[in-house]
Amino acid sequence: MTTPTPRTWRLDDHDGTAARQTLVLAATGDRLPQCVYWGDPLPPDANLTTLAAAHAIDVTGGMLDENPDLSLCPEAARTFPGQPGLILRTRDGTPILPRFLYVSDDRNGDALDLRYADADHGLRLTFRFATDPSTHIVTARTILDADAPVHLHWLAAPVLPAPQLSDEMIDVSGRWCGEFQLNRTPWSPGIRYRENRTGRTGHEHFPGLLVPCRGATNTRGEAYAFHYGWSGGHRMIAEELPDGRRQIQWGHAARMETHAATRFETATLHATYSRTGLNGCAVAFQRHVRDRIVDWPDRSRPRPVHYNCWEAVYFDHRLPVLKDIASRAADLGAERFVLDDGWFGQRDDDTRSLSDWTVDPRKYPDGLGPLIDHVHGCGMTFGLWFEPEMVNPDSDIHRAHPDWALGAADQTLGRQQKALDMGNPRVRDFIHARMAAILGAHDIDYVKWDHNRVLPMPDADQTRGSYALIDRLRRDFPGVEIESCASGGGRIDFGIMARTHRVWLSDSNDALERLRIQHDAALFLPLAVTGSHVGPRRCHTSGRVLDIRFRAWVAAQRHMGFEMDPRELTEDEARVLRDVTAWWKRNRGWMTGADILRLDSADPAVLAEQQMARDGGRFVVFAGKAATSAQIAPRPLRLTALDPDATYRIELANRADAPALSRGTPLLKDGPVDLPGTWLMHHGIVLPWTYPDSMWVVEGHRL
Ligand code: DGJ
Repeated sequence: MTTPTPRTWRLDDHDGTAARQTLVLAATGDRLPQCVYWGDPLPPDANLTTLAAAHAIDVTGGMLDENPDLSLCPEAARTFPGQPGLILRTRDGTPILPRFLYVSDDRNGDALDLRYADADHGLRLTFRFATDPSTHIVTARTILDADAPVHLHWLAAPVLPAPQLSDEMIDVSGRWCGEFQLNRTPWSPGIRYRENRTGRTGHEHFPGLLVPCRGATNTRGEAYAFHYGWSGGHRMIAEELPDGRRQIQWGHAARMETHAATRFETATLHATYSRTGLNGCAVAFQRHVRDRIVDWPDRSRPRPVHYNCWEAVYFDHRLPVLKDIASRAADLGAERFVLDDGWFGQRDDDTRSLSDWTVDPRKYPDGLGPLIDHVHGCGMTFGLWFEPEMVNPDSDIHRAHPDWALGAADQTLGRQQKALDMGNPRVRDFIHARMAAILGAHDIDYVKWDHNRVLPMPDADQTRGSYALIDRLRRDFPGVEIESCASGGGRIDFGIMARTHRVWLSDSNDALERLRIQHDAALFLPLAVTGSHVGPRRCHTSGRVLDIRFRAWVAAQRHMGFEMDPRELTEDEARVLRDVTAWWKRNRGWMTGADILRLDSADPAVLAEQQMARDGGRFVVFAGKAATSAQIAPRPLRLTALDPDATYRIELANRADAPALSRGTPLLKDGPVDLPGTWLMHHGIVLPWTYPDSMWVVEGHRL
């Protein structure tokens, strides 16, 4: 029997010089293709037909006569021994078991479309791939078209294999004030299944996955990574089949489409392969978010230092106090003042007024103008808090239109509020009109966009409605930047990042907790979008009292801001904060475009990262001491991604912070030291002893 030549395609992400990965897709006859190779770049002349044949695994007793393909959309009707990539029914509820066959393919530069159809069921399936030679992210989507409306239960973005030389996978969970917790799960036969049915990305369900190959660390080894860019709740299946093959599926949470329709589309799956450890994946995501996904109103504008008044005044808005705070914040170095919750309706606490987006005349008898003028007079721009998709039952709008709320009348409230029905265009028009009235009447360059409860049920229309509203406001106010907040980091994903410019990573302004959250979030997020504020001396969410130096340096690791009441600062605290802020402003130009590389710290008490300029000419290392070390002296900290043959001048930016208990004379305490890249990467830098809850900051320049 002769086997027909398989159709094959390859995707390379090289820009002529530095290819990083190749994907090879190959199809058995006219069937759906499968990924037969994903990893280090293949030679340009590799014979893909041979690769496809070489990929096939053997058959023994107890197996089918042929192994069903692990295709881009595994089909139940082809005896696939795992989860299918598509589950749907006709309008009357009859299951459909499609078998797709090749129609056409289209290549356009870095993009590849593959089209398949099932004529018997009137279905068409399109896979849309693109590679990015600069960020090294592969993007992929699946689109389903049907002649007659069908009910969708599950549609996976193009299904990719997971490596077999991998012992575990790392996915992400979290909670309020504890975002980005990494979970390591060993591979075993069967499924690791994550499904988020809250209707919001959620603290609990960041849609990301890392699959390190055996022995990979932050800085070395091979790793694969995935992110699903959707804010309405996702489903991830990481499955090991009985024959050992492994598949990764991503899509919207199941049964999220509430109506039969003729077109369904997944969100974009972002995937990458790295041979420089988890950092290779992290840097790919960081660059892709900053350089491809975020639509900056003005890319050249430096990220301004924020002041946010939430933890200073909460709902107690008094104009003279806010003006005083604004003046002090500007004196410390703030460049944007954000007026948080409490300025509208009768919002004296969180029980009322959401959706009544008119300025509270009791607090602002002359409107927001006087405060905004004062803020501008201090040299800062002005930002304003909204929670557009929400309504309190105690609000004018809920009283007038109770049917505008999503979900049952007797639903359980969250923070005393309901979600508005964003699928309803009248609701969107109303919110748009109210927000546009405020944004149009004032010089406002920033909106903090909050979302403080989960939905009563998952509903894709809700997410599409939110996206449509944000898109419309952005068209009308193109100069306004938006921060995605949801009780801190409850709505962080690349879908929302395509419409916003900053994330409020966590409601925890506790620098110790932030240090860890930022470290893990850097697997996906760059500095440019990651808000980080210097909180009050006694943290409001943990009760911890932390030194201003530690609080300031942790905020300076990302997009810096302040959130404490500046009236609480001692002179010394204000001086430290001014100095660190000035340091951040001097460095933000290159740091905003830098790669954040997590270091392999020999001491588990030290969480360290190296922010590396794109041209390799300079870096800064932040070594945060998150606990007391087990051993008595600091272990050397190995750097990464340096030129082994170059010499670097390294210097402690804050060596004056060494405590008296650091009694020795490690070289860095005295001033700059010139060391070879090889030494820095293989021996590591020797830092002075220091207290827990403190940070060493080491600047490096290539000589
Ligand atoms: C939750 C946010 O995460 C906080 O920063 C603050 O904006 C409050 N909402 C306001 O209600």
